[in-house]
Amino acid sequence: MIFEQIKIGGDRNFAYLIGDDSTREGAVVDPGYNQDVVFDRIDALKLKILYTINTHSHHDHVGGNTVMKERLGAQLVAHRSVGEGAADILVDDGSSLALGDIRITFLHTPGHSGDSICILAGQKVITGDTLFVGKIGGANGHAAAELQYRSLHDKLMTLADDIEVYPGHDVGVTPSSTIGQERRTNPFITQPTLQDFIYLKEHWAEYKAKHGIK
Ligand SMILES: [Fe+2]
Repeated sequence: MIFEQIKIGGDRNFAYLIGDDSTREGAVVDPGYNQDVVFDRIDALKLKILYTINTHSHHDHVGGNTVMKERLGAQLVAHRSVGEGAADILVDDGSSLALGDIRITFLHTPGHSGDSICILAGQKVITGDTLFVGKIGGANGHAAAELQYRSLHDKLMTLADDIEVYPGHDVGVTPSSTIGQERRTNPFITQPTLQDFIYLKEHWAEYKAKHGIK
């Protein structure tokens, strides 16, 4: 499997390329900024991009959708909650798509946004703004925070420890991680209850200062 994490600027955003070694069929994930660097890698890898996949519809993740469609004819893939007409292919929790012999599967992980999805490909999961290395994305209000807590525990943390985690932003101590590492060390995951999780969200600035987290 071809897999690349690409720094595209913005708010330290990452885009990703996934592709099949033999057919070269591929997908680009979250081409929000600097599409030139993404096109350079697509050309270098000789990928035929079938899909642009958005982990969610925040502006810093979707900025390259139109140019990917215009230049490559890539079909836009997003969670069903974006609504009919907002994407070419609407996916649900458990939906999958093929790239040659590779099957990519989607997990619906609402919380950071209602349409947040994570993308499983082989031993890797692209987590968008649901899960960062050692951190998580923001959630707007108590109900969204509870949804995010459920998504983290009921979806992502059911994956095996050796699944590699590839986040939407480069805001951790390393650009990628594993489910096992996040399960053991991410302070948002190690909180024992929803109430503790929400308390940490509300007191994150203090927690970061106390623990020297940047
Ligand atoms: Fe976001």
